Amino acid sequence: MKGLIPNDFILDLIARTNILDVISKRVKMKKKGNNYFGCCPFHDEKTASFSLNEKKQIYYCFGCGASGSVVSFLMQYERLSFPEAIEELASMQGVRVPYTADSNNQHDQAKQIESRNVRRDLYTLMAKVTNFYQQQLALPTSKEAREYLEQRGLNAEIVARYKIGFAPNEWQLTFQHVVKTKDEAILYEKAGMSVNNESGNHYDRFRGRIMFPIRDRQGNVIAFGGRTIINDSAKYLNSPETPIFHKGFQLYGLYEAQEVNRNPKQLIIVEGYMDVVSLAQYGIDYAVAALGTATSEEHIKLLFRATDSVIFCYDGDNAGRSAAWRALNVLLPCLIDGKDITFAFLPQDEDPDSLVRKIGKQGFEDYLKSAPNLSKFLFDELLKQVDLKTAEGKAKLSSLALPLLDQVKAKAFRLNLLQRLGNYLGLLDVSQIEQLIYSSRYKSDEKKVEKAPASNMKLTTMRILIGLLIQYPQLAKQVTDLETIRQVKLAGIEIFIELLELCQHYPNINTAQLLTECIDRPFYKQLNRLATWEYHYQDDEITLIFCHTLKELYDNILAQRQDELIAKERVSGLSSAEKKELATLILVLSKKD
Ligand code: UTP
Ligand code: MN
Repeated sequence: MKGLIPNDFILDLIARTNILDVISKRVKMKKKGNNYFGCCPFHDEKTASFSLNEKKQIYYCFGCGASGSVVSFLMQYERLSFPEAIEELASMQGVRVPYTADSNNQHDQAKQIESRNVRRDLYTLMAKVTNFYQQQLALPTSKEAREYLEQRGLNAEIVARYKIGFAPNEWQLTFQHVVKTKDEAILYEKAGMSVNNESGNHYDRFRGRIMFPIRDRQGNVIAFGGRTIINDSAKYLNSPETPIFHKGFQLYGLYEAQEVNRNPKQLIIVEGYMDVVSLAQYGIDYAVAALGTATSEEHIKLLFRATDSVIFCYDGDNAGRSAAWRALNVLLPCLIDGKDITFAFLPQDEDPDSLVRKIGKQGFEDYLKSAPNLSKFLFDELLKQVDLKTAEGKAKLSSLALPLLDQVKAKAFRLNLLQRLGNYLGLLDVSQIEQLIYSSRYKSDEKKVEKAPASNMKLTTMRILIGLLIQYPQLAKQVTDLETIRQVKLAGIEIFIELLELCQHYPNINTAQLLTECIDRPFYKQLNRLATWEYHYQDDEITLIFCHTLKELYDNILAQRQDELIAKERVSGLSSAEKKELATLILVLSKKD
């Protein structure tokens, strides 16, 4: 998987990168002693158990056990493949990744290189298309499109900020202007920009539409949404899933919102492109939209990473209420304490676009302020279904609410919701509520076995050696006799040898680099745990302990050889050289005790 990028390049890249820069851009980190701490981005928590060791260039979460180097951080956090993470680091350093094809299997590898470069080329192509659409909008022939935007009340500044453009109503115009080479034709197709009909002809997907570019977090245009101005039967058309665009993972307007404010105090999630853009024009520049899909867990994670306060905004009709209820169900398991969540429902027949035009920024923001918070919305909906005056009604409320509340892992949210439920049920006696809390918490704890931190791992000779070596790679210098070690038949020895070879090949390698080198090995996970294992040895003891353990390993080889010789003696007898060897072994090993 990573054989296509030269090792030296990867190691150099990691050496040049400071993991602290990369992580602190994404997670708020605070120095405490030798390490930095922050709230773990990989599990829900309020206390900072995500640690970063700048010296070793690795991170470790005491809560969920997530750990690794800057490469694995990017892979996990940004959901990148290994080569993509390397691409990301390379672009941060302003260098190009030198892909190589090795001589065996050139064909496959050439194909793989192609797929690495495809993303980059797709971004370039989409940027070209975006440009073309913007240019088209400015042409005298596009009067109708400009009039449409004007009639919708969008001004030039907002059109430019969102890079809004126009795809003329022509079958191949965009293709002909953007595609100059055969490669570009393939990319155009891959980017979802064309549609093929039955007779094998391709034509532009977007025609006669106002074009809204969808940008990823780096600002690359990865897809489009297009609104018809010629009354096509599909009011909006979106790009299909492509190698660079996965609907459920993107929020329209998030890039633009963060461009204005990297840490927005709050974000509103609305339904449409026009809503986002109109709100922004009115100064509410913190709205985003799911792209015509239901709110997904990924959307919520994106939102929570970006802000502490999220307003889910829906139409006031039944469709809006049920969309909100679906979003609530996705939301419950990924709630994080400290987040402020409200559900706003707009007046009949209004959407954010129309409403903000009527009541302006202040009016709209005041309207949002009166919106119910998550627990109020949840119980409002449930209470519609029951009659609290009857015992059955109470029982029904309890049976409707508990499975929902049980999904909430965030402690404060959970307690608050349970207390509210207790109030409705008339269980004002604290112990009764606790009983309720206990029975539902008990259930959810069973599901929560997951990853435990490394502290419960048993110390073995091999683990000590591997763990110390990965944490202090300079210890490799203590191993002078690799050939002898190769004879050891202990579980894990091949890992130790592989690390030693790496350390010898790259004398200044550090922990993060070693980890990254092993990222595609089957033992990577264990290695990661060992890399973050707290030994509680003093710094000056480390070399001593390593050498001592190493000696145990050598002794183990000798003992192993002694056993072999003794066994052979019984079965087939020994040559005179072997007899001598055995005698020496017996002598050496007896001295040891
Ligand atoms: P709406 O139908 O509410 O449109 O769709 P809108 O945002 O108010 O747009 P205007 O004001 O009529 O121009 C909301 C969102 O649902 C998706 C789009 O993402 C749209 O922004 N949608 C809607 C589609 O994907 N396809 C459609 O045909 C309609
Ligand atoms: Mn609308």
